[in-house]
Amino acid sequence: MSTGSILILPGDGIGPEVMAQVRRIIDWYGAKRGLSFDVSEDLVGGAAYDAHGVPLADETMARAQEADAVLLGAVGGPKYDDLDFSVKPERGLLRLRKEMDLYANLRPAQCFDALADFSSLKRDVVAGLDIMIVRELTSGVYFGEPRGIFTEGNERVGINTQRYTESEIARVARSAFELARKRGGKVCSMEKANVMESGILWREVVQKVHDEEYPDVELSHMYADAGAMQLTRWPKQFDVIVTDNLFGDLLSDVAAMLTGSLGMLPSASLGAPAANGRPKALYEPVHGSAPDIAGQGKANPIACILSFAMALRYSFDEGVEADRLEAAVEKVLADGVRTPDLLGEEGTDPVTTEGMGDAILKALDASL
Ligand code: NAI
Ligand code: MG
Repeated sequence: MSTGSILILPGDGIGPEVMAQVRRIIDWYGAKRGLSFDVSEDLVGGAAYDAHGVPLADETMARAQEADAVLLGAVGGPKYDDLDFSVKPERGLLRLRKEMDLYANLRPAQCFDALADFSSLKRDVVAGLDIMIVRELTSGVYFGEPRGIFTEGNERVGINTQRYTESEIARVARSAFELARKRGGKVCSMEKANVMESGILWREVVQKVHDEEYPDVELSHMYADAGAMQLTRWPKQFDVIVTDNLFGDLLSDVAAMLTGSLGMLPSASLGAPAANGRPKALYEPVHGSAPDIAGQGKANPIACILSFAMALRYSFDEGVEADRLEAAVEKVLADGVRTPDLLGEEGTDPVTTEGMGDAILKALDASL
C-alpha cells in the first residue's frame, strides 16, 4: 500500500537543485524504511510560465488539491522580473496557497548545536532552541476591506483593515493546539488585545477553543510587542506561538534569525483536513530561488530537506522517521560538513549541494 502521494514542484533557480536531494531522501525511505510514496513532479513559477505561459497550470492546481503533500522548491528570478504582475512566478505560489486555503503557516525556529555560534545572540540563549511559530496566513490586515488609498479633503489617506472572524481564529488556534500536543504541550497566543478589538476577539476565541477542546495543553497570552522582546531575550521559554498574519510575518522572521542561515529554514502551510483526514499541505524552504548561486552546486539543501521532514511528521504521521531525518542533519552538521553558506570566518572546505545530500544519506544509513 502507498504511504501517500507527494507532488513535487521544484520551480526555479536553486529550487530544482535542492529538490534533487530531497528526491534521493524520499527514495531512501522507500528502499530502507518501506515508505512507498506515490511521487509525481510538475512545474511552477517561471518554469511553468516558460512551458505554459502561466505560473501555475490548471492541471497542476488540480493535482495539488489531490496530493497528500505538495513539496515546493522556490520560484522567481531575474529572467521573470519584467513580466506582467498577473503572470509573475510568485503568483503561482499565491494561487496554491489561496485555492488550497492554507491558513496555518508553520515556521519552526530550531538551533542546531553545531551552528549556535552563527546566531547574533549568545550561544546560551539559542543552543538547543526548538520553537514553532504558527502564523495565520489567509486573513487579517493583508486582506481586510476596506483597503486602498483615498482622498479625504485636501490630502490622501492609506487604509488597511484588520479583520478576523471567530471561525478564522478558531481554526488556526486548533492547528496550534494540535501541534503542541505533538511537541512540548504549550501554546502562547500573541495579539494586541490592549489596543485592538480584533485582538480582544482573538484572545477570547483562542481561550474558548482551549477550554472546550484542548484543556490538556498549557495556554498563555502575550501582547505581540512583549512577545518580540521575549523572543530575543529568552526564546526557549516558548514551544508553539500562534498569532495573526501581520504579527506572524514579523515574529517568524525574528525567530528565524535567532538560528542563523536562510539555507536552514523549513516551513509548512496547512489547511483543513481533506476527506482522508490529512490536512491540505504545502511544504517549502523559507528561502527564494537564489539566482546569485543557482547552477553552481553551492545551494544548501537542508531547508528543503527539513521541509520534507515536516511533511513526514504532519502529513504522513511518521514522526519517528521525521526525527530520524532531523537527527541525520544534526549529525552531519556536528561532523563539520558545510555548504558555503554555513562556513564561518576560518572556513574549512565546503561541500556541494550533492555532497551535503551524500552526507545526510550516509547518516541515515548509519541510523539503521
Ligand atoms: P533568496 O532567499 O533567494 O536569497 C537571499 C540570499 O540568501 C542570497 O544571497 C542567496 O544566495 C542566499 N541563499 C538563499 N537560499 C540559500 C540556500 N539554500 N543555500 C545557500 N544560500 C542561500 O532571496 P532573494 O535573493 O531576495 O530573491 C531571489 C528570487 O527568489 C527573487 O526572484 C524572489 O522573488 C524569489 N523568492 C521566492 C520565494 C519563494 O519561492 N518562496 C521567497 C523569497 C524570494
Ligand atoms: Mg516576511
